[in-house]
Amino acid sequence: MTSKRDLIIAIFLMIIFLITGIVCYASFTPPVPDNEPMRIMFQTKAGKVLFTHSAHSFDYTSDCLDCHHLTSFPPDFDCSGCHFKEGDALMLSREDAFHDQCIGCHDDMGAGPVECNECHSL
Ligand code: HEC
Ligand code: HEC
Ligand code: HEC
Ligand code: HEC
Repeated sequence: MTSKRDLIIAIFLMIIFLITGIVCYASFTPPVPDNEPMRIMFQTKAGKVLFTHSAHSFDYTSDCLDCHHLTSFPPDFDCSGCHFKEGDALMLSREDAFHDQCIGCHDDMGAGPVECNECHSL
């Protein structure tokens, strides 16, 4: 037999857990910047590359700075701001920066395309 008092305590606890859950969810879900692209289609002379930006930034890693490294404030999301078309001894070209970062991570994680035509497929 559950007494009325036990029932009240149970309901009280349930409400506390619910509120804790909502507060935790609200405080730990990172804010989504509304300018973040869903996907980017890179036009290259080797064939187009489709990059699922949102999947990469939410499912494959959660840190923008993994890719947008050394960015300034306000953030500069364009790799070309530093990695110019022609590279030199100090700075990778845009093409090498992309290849090193994209293929490097796929290699490290053992997932994602590493062959030319798996990326340049369109
Ligand atoms: C993980 C995906 C990926 C793989 C694998 C890959 N690429 Fe790329 N490639 C890119 C991206 C992204 C760019 C940069 C596009 C840009 O600059 O906007 C690029 C740029 C290029 C460019 C420069 C084209 C231009 O218009 O300036 C060439 C050439 C190229 N890749 C050839 C290759 C070759 C050859 C291979 C295999 C040895 C290869 N890529 C493998 C994603 C990839
Ligand atoms: C897996 C790598 C990766 C991650 C993680 C990532 N990005 Fe990006 N993002 C890119 C690449 C590559 C580009 C294209 C840069 C270029 O064309 O020079 C880009 C472009 C952008 C752009 C510019 C789009 C445009 O059209 O100019 C914004 C804004 C951006 N990212 C925001 C973010 C934010 C915010 C996060 C974290 C929530 C994030 N990115 C995480 C790789 C990444
Ligand atoms: C604010 C300038 C700046 C921007 C923007 C920038 N980089 Fe870099 N990047 C550098 C400098 C400086 C180096 C060389 C020093 C170093 O390795 O940290 C570098 C080195 C790299 C390297 C060599 C390995 C490493 O991590 O050190 C890769 C790969 C790379 N960048 C990819 C990218 C990609 C892809 C983007 C765009 C998503 C990008 N970078 C945006 C300045 C920048
Ligand atoms: C931080 C690590 C990381 C970086 C950097 C990264 N990737 Fe990926 N990528 C992954 C992982 C992990 C997968 C595999 C996901 C799966 O198979 O579930 C993947 C899958 C992919 C796929 C196939 C599935 C899909 O979502 O489209 C493509 C295409 C791709 N990556 C392109 C790129 C390009 C182009 C770049 C550079 C601009 C890049 N990736 C940079 C981790 C990364």
